[in-house]
Amino acid sequence: MSAIDNKLIDRLRKAKKVAVLTGAGISAESGVPTFRGNDGLWKKFRAEELATVDAFMDNPALVWEWYLFRRDLMSKVEPNPGHYALVELENLFNDFTLITQNVDGLHRRAGSKNILELHGNITLNKCFDCGKAFEGTVDISLGELPKCACGGKIRPDVVWFGELLPAAAINKAFEASQEAEVFLSIGTSAIVHPAASLPVEAKRHGACLVEINLDPTPLTALADYAYQGKSGEILPQIVERLKS
Ligand code: APR
Repeated sequence: MSAIDNKLIDRLRKAKKVAVLTGAGISAESGVPTFRGNDGLWKKFRAEELATVDAFMDNPALVWEWYLFRRDLMSKVEPNPGHYALVELENLFNDFTLITQNVDGLHRRAGSKNILELHGNITLNKCFDCGKAFEGTVDISLGELPKCACGGKIRPDVVWFGELLPAAAINKAFEASQEAEVFLSIGTSAIVHPAASLPVEAKRHGACLVEINLDPTPLTALADYAYQGKSGEILPQIVERLKS
């Protein structure tokens, strides 16, 4: 594994504003499958085939089966050292924004505070038609899917391909990225927009761009520091160096 560069530690020590973008890779060491890795398929379906309005209109039960499977899996996993290192990192800076594409809620469970969940939260439901939050449980074994008082079908409160991101969250994310002196992109394949634009935007506004990922991504060439490895191993090293 690569040692952490002294210059990066110096840059972080001087920084007042830090922003972080995380993707499925940070939760991989907790046992949550990524979307585009070898473990990314579910019953031969890719995420792009299930996480869409069209898929839900065609076969809501199948889409719900996938979400209930993931919801169950995510309820049984725990945050890993990568999540906890980001909690420690937040405590070292006055202005720290954690932007995540993950819907698993593991950052919150680890103790991170200033979190922007760009793609929603898998534990929540809402009405497909009117958007009202639905508190009840969804049990597909009952044969009929729950409906809202307005008659609309209940769906998971996550952002699907082709849908707009929650405006307040994405606006704040762009603002934090543009203002960040150091921006860390962690465990994301950096191909799904608009989230993938955030590191580019940060760099364009002068941030030092750091990538931590198992594999190279379209961002790697743009990064000032690219660490290829597990976020649960590299992030704690950065925190230790900052604290020493
Ligand atoms: N540490 C660091 N990186 C890792 C680790 C790890 N332990 N394990 C996997 N990775 C990397 C993979 O190499 C890959 O580049 O994490 C990345 C995960 O990429 P994706 O599966 O594409 O996940 P993500 O970037 O979060 O996907 C974006 O796509 O399907 C949608 O809405 C979904 O939010 C998701 C979005």
